[in-house]
Amino acid sequence: MSDRDTANASAAPARTAVVIPAAGRGVRLGPGAPKALRTLNGTPMLVHAVRAMTASRAVSLVVVVAPADGAAEVRNLLDAHPLADHDSTRTEVVVVPGGETRQESVRLGLAALPDDVTAVLVHDAARPLVPVDTVDAVAAAVREGAPAVVPALPLADTVKQVEPRTGEHAGEPEPVVATPERALLRAVQTPQGFDRVTLVEAHEKVALEGEGATDDAGMVERLGVRVVVVPGHEEAFKVTRPLDLVLAEAVLARRRANDGF
Ligand code: CTP
Ligand code: MG
Repeated sequence: MSDRDTANASAAPARTAVVIPAAGRGVRLGPGAPKALRTLNGTPMLVHAVRAMTASRAVSLVVVVAPADGAAEVRNLLDAHPLADHDSTRTEVVVVPGGETRQESVRLGLAALPDDVTAVLVHDAARPLVPVDTVDAVAAAVREGAPAVVPALPLADTVKQVEPRTGEHAGEPEPVVATPERALLRAVQTPQGFDRVTLVEAHEKVALEGEGATDDAGMVERLGVRVVVVPGHEEAFKVTRPLDLVLAEAVLARRRANDGF
């Protein structure tokens, strides 16, 4: 990205887009449809996630990154569900095919952004219940000039660093190497917000082995760019294992009881 491109971007009116990586299979959730298409109280997780983004007035475009062989199916699914929107502006929702890793899927989503987008939020489809206040807080921090913003919560559990036992030692008790001070740790969530140029640069320059990056802010950190944390929310938890589906449906039931939504 040249200086000229950067200058052009900053001269244009600020426009915030969200990239939703939704191309994962959901191996840890067990057999079934791709995770983003599994339902919570009858509605696909991805539809909940898109609604959580369109609920924010800060967001004017959503790019959904679908399973590589399922982009048409995802488009049909989104067209079949009302994507509850704030009253005046209609938020555009586009669908692109994803990649083998989350990092690759996010990169493909970024490639689909129009030129006038200056701020990008990256939000896991697997966090369908993030409250709009969290989305707004991240978007606002980026608009106020932070190049990278991450919602996060203090940890409930103490964390140990271990020496994983693999190969001939697989299954043996793992030796503990260290116990980081819990008060200094945060569990990070999404949406993570970025200055667009910074995030694109991170995806161009930072290569990670194997599974790739599971955290976009971590890639930006490797560029030497300052990342800041804002308060996350317990309802922004990631649906990863079967018990998380139970929790997500309980959260939806509680919301319905509380506000009739
Ligand atoms: N994701 C993606 N493309 C991939 C892998 C993951 O877009 N190739 C997305 C998932 O759809 C999810 C988010 O990245 O919304 C977070 O990933 P994770 O929770 O790990 O989901 P999965 O990879 O689908 O689950 P698992 O690791 O259990 O297979
Ligand atoms: Mg995964």
